[in-house]
Amino acid sequence: MKNREWEQKIEALLAELTLDEKISMIHSAEFFRSGGVPRLGIPRISMNDGPMGVRNEFEPDKWVTIGTTADSTSYLPSNSAIAATWNRELAKTSGEVLGREARGRGKDMILAPGINIKRNPLCGRNFEYMSEDPYLISEMVVPLIEGIQENDVSACVKHFACNAQEYERLFVNVELDERTLREIYLPGFEAAVKRAKTWGLMGSYNLVRGVHGSQNRFLLTDILRKEWKYDGLVVSDWGAVHDTKLAAESGLDIEMSVTPDFDEYYLANPLKEAIKKGEISEERVDEMVRNILRFMLRVRLIEIELKKQKNGKVTAKAVRVPDRDPGCVNADVCHTFVRKTAEEAVVMLKNDKKLLPFKPSETQRLLVIGDNANRMHAAGGGSAEIKALYEKTPLLGLANEYGGNTEVKYARGYYVPRKTADIVNWQEGSVNIEEINREQRKKGGFTAEEKKLIKKLRDEAVALAKEYDKVVIVGGLDHDLDVEGKDKESLKLPYGQDELIKAVLEVNPNAAVVMVSGSPVDMSAWMDKAKAILWMSYNGMEGGAALAEVISGSIVPSGKLPESLPADFKDTPVAKYGDYPGRKLTAAEKKRMNARLTQNFNEGVFVGYRYYEKENVKVQFPFGHGLSYADFKYSGLKVEKVKGKTAFTVSVQVKNTGHVSAKETVQLYVGEKNVSAGNPVKELKGFDKAEIKPGQTKTFKFKLDEKAFSHFSNESMKWEVMSGDMVIYIGASSADIRCTKTVKI
Ligand code: BGC
Repeated sequence: MKNREWEQKIEALLAELTLDEKISMIHSAEFFRSGGVPRLGIPRISMNDGPMGVRNEFEPDKWVTIGTTADSTSYLPSNSAIAATWNRELAKTSGEVLGREARGRGKDMILAPGINIKRNPLCGRNFEYMSEDPYLISEMVVPLIEGIQENDVSACVKHFACNAQEYERLFVNVELDERTLREIYLPGFEAAVKRAKTWGLMGSYNLVRGVHGSQNRFLLTDILRKEWKYDGLVVSDWGAVHDTKLAAESGLDIEMSVTPDFDEYYLANPLKEAIKKGEISEERVDEMVRNILRFMLRVRLIEIELKKQKNGKVTAKAVRVPDRDPGCVNADVCHTFVRKTAEEAVVMLKNDKKLLPFKPSETQRLLVIGDNANRMHAAGGGSAEIKALYEKTPLLGLANEYGGNTEVKYARGYYVPRKTADIVNWQEGSVNIEEINREQRKKGGFTAEEKKLIKKLRDEAVALAKEYDKVVIVGGLDHDLDVEGKDKESLKLPYGQDELIKAVLEVNPNAAVVMVSGSPVDMSAWMDKAKAILWMSYNGMEGGAALAEVISGSIVPSGKLPESLPADFKDTPVAKYGDYPGRKLTAAEKKRMNARLTQNFNEGVFVGYRYYEKENVKVQFPFGHGLSYADFKYSGLKVEKVKGKTAFTVSVQVKNTGHVSAKETVQLYVGEKNVSAGNPVKELKGFDKAEIKPGQTKTFKFKLDEKAFSHFSNESMKWEVMSGDMVIYIGASSADIRCTKTVKI
């Protein structure tokens, strides 16, 4: 809701501004700052990435980091890790840490969170995103944004919308039907706008139905501003604007990009020319400036002071807010929150014969194998990179956790060719599509030297694995693969890890395997042989410590997968129905759009488990899966109708039948009893997480309203409530359903 007093002040200040001054505010003046108007006290808006902590500082107009230690920061678990906690409170505290540090570093807006749907497991940026499920995303993004914005700093939820691949990310056009858009790709953003009241949002690079997201009137005005009543700030992605008129009339407020010719941006001199010629109305610029000033008031960057002059005229100027929250960086309490989140983000995929935990009292000699055990990840990934104050690797975490009574031995096990250091920052070339494509096509073989090293590392690890009774292999991906700007080629594990893991398990079947990854990997070569498998995304500065606590048993694992883990790209809905990596444009498309290829989301709403369940495709591990050191018994499912409404209250009892206190996430799914062809078997509509002591029973309660039983109709273009018998499923995962009840709608 708009504040009337603010709106009057905004109008007064707007009236003071010349066209040049207004235009200076609606595009970058530095790579991470919009322009200000010093004459009237209007400052620049300071922004920075990103999702895993406040990114290192750059020179204002060069892609060179300032190179001091002043920007060392907390490294938070990635969104895919936060989502794996299924814990709304931890999403909130993660937001609080991010917001506090963004403010502590003098920012007005943090370019996070990224919440695009994980439609395609090959997408290079999946680690930055939360889930394949719009409900889980919505539930986690709301507290995350609320946490950020408690600190007089804004979130910037991104990338709006349908950004699902990095390959040709600047020029890939997405075609999808309205139902798919409304049910899968929009709900997270809608929750961010309507429930979390985000003050900032970033448009996407990709086109949606023929128009780039950052200048897309349908998305930015019709849906965002008109339907959802958003009156916050919209920034473009960096270099995502391609047309002055489209951008100026789309609902975008600030154009950001990666080149230092700021005055030549589409919303700079070219816009001024177009206004002078009468091609674009100045009122559009006024509207952008209103949104910018409102944003500044919200984050308390300014107050607007009105003064009555002797002649009766009222003048306005912006002044600083003296008691604005100063934030703070690297407080111990932030690191504690980061640790707590990391602990709940570790997912135990498999634990046959209760192989884990490796209790310290029973572990005299522990062998840790794998490059990822000793690898720090914070400084990679693209715009999500940060200069972490510190990062505890799994190896450090394990050494600390087990202490001096355990001999912790390390063997690298597999060889990762280090990329030669980038001479120019990747972001500088991030809009040069030819260059990006050349990079993506580059393939490197191994030299004879390297081949020798690979064999040596593997042989050493296998020989040691024979000797040690407790062995942990830490592998997976890294930010050479989970990275902005390119997609992965397959789900295969890189660097010869399959051979290594198989060989180690052969000589030591009790080795536990850990996969560090932001997206699915193929584990089929050794999955059946491994008794214990743990899964962890890029898990922040305390990630290694959290993992070690789970391995030792001082923490009981409670993470659940926020996405399905298929073994092979060919098993995915994108492979079966999509056009990935994109089909050629039709002649008509070529004429009307600035794209290089089109991606039809033909799978519709059947993304992730909605597809695997519908078409009975086996995945390695299903959505929502995650084991514990305790066992839980579910019983007493009750479903009661709320009188006079299409709404129900649901309750179920869960008993901890194990020997350790542990957290369980109970999941509620809804689906038709006789599933119609166009609908998923079931969809997540509720979840809750609670700690249960051994022998204790807890009641989990849920509320279901009309929306839980509705679908968007492509015919009526409205949400429609389904009718008939609907099943309410309660489970420990999407595939581990413990009780059901059927209700009539
Ligand atoms: C990314 C955005 C990021 C921006 C600024 C772009 O390349 O897509 O997510 O916020 O750069 O670094």
